[in-house]
Amino acid sequence: MISPEQAVDDINATFGVHRARALHAKGTICTGVFTATSEAARLTRAAHMQGQPVEAKVRFSNASGNPATPDYAPDIRGMATAFLLPDGSRTDISAQTSPRFPVRTPDAFIALVKANKPGIGRLWKLPAFLATHPGVLPALRVDAPTLKPPASYATRPYYAIHAFRWLDAAGGERYVRYTWIPRDPRPDLSLREAKGRGADYLREELAERLAREPIRFDLQLQIAGEGDAVDDATAVWPAERETLTAGTLEVSGPDDGDPGLVFDPARVIDGIELSGDPVLNFRPKAYAVSAERRA
Ligand code: HEM
Repeated sequence: MISPEQAVDDINATFGVHRARALHAKGTICTGVFTATSEAARLTRAAHMQGQPVEAKVRFSNASGNPATPDYAPDIRGMATAFLLPDGSRTDISAQTSPRFPVRTPDAFIALVKANKPGIGRLWKLPAFLATHPGVLPALRVDAPTLKPPASYATRPYYAIHAFRWLDAAGGERYVRYTWIPRDPRPDLSLREAKGRGADYLREELAERLAREPIRFDLQLQIAGEGDAVDDATAVWPAERETLTAGTLEVSGPDDGDPGLVFDPARVIDGIELSGDPVLNFRPKAYAVSAERRA
């Protein structure tokens, strides 16, 4: 398997070295509060899911590794959330706007990043990647429309992709997947409309919106059924699987704390465990390399 250092080198070779996050380089951190539902408390003993309001930091971002990429460029958007518990512990959820993750392994992810490098080389590299990874096509087809410029960071669903094991107080367990559902969904913009709003329109709209009112997302949980793959980021679980609302996040304003905060999808606390998903287990190592280089 590719090393985390090589993965970040390859990402940097695609987007350049910018002393920023190797991916999701441009973003804004906000403050918020998360309040879990009683249904969540029934399904996990994790401290942030017991119903008391929990302080949160939320970073909205564009996936490009170049911080100068304009907001109107077609891209994936990120929403990373840190839940800060009163005892000083912390757990994170890292999510993005593509509903389907196209690849099962870190190696295939880096091959896709390299094949997608902007420029003339993409004309042959992308078809070559698709020819050697035909399984990615259905996911890329589903994801393609979600690359359109959104009206706002507040108006899109964000998918956390991986499955996590939730353990409850009585010893029961189940695998779940998270989706942040916006309370204010809106149609996306055309490229022309987004360009007209400027290179920083998402960042500006976020600030204006937060000055006016808080942003709310519901945390939707999908619960795995018998036989659903839990260690494969590309797996699609049947639509009829039980879903429920685990809580609501209220994002209330800009954060004036550390802009270099590292969000780590594998940072879990008692009551939540990781699956064996190779992408999930690789991410913290790559994020640590990226964080060390940008520090
Ligand atoms: C092998 C697969 C992946 C690799 C190698 C990778 C790599 C990276 C790296 C190097 C960063 C910058 C980290 C930092 O400097 O703090 C990053 C950020 C991010 N990634 Fe990934 N990633 C992968 C998969 C995913 C997946 C599956 C998701 C979706 C759930 C995702 C969502 C994000 C988000 C939201 C951020 C921004 C976090 C922030 O705002 O600080 N990534 N990724």
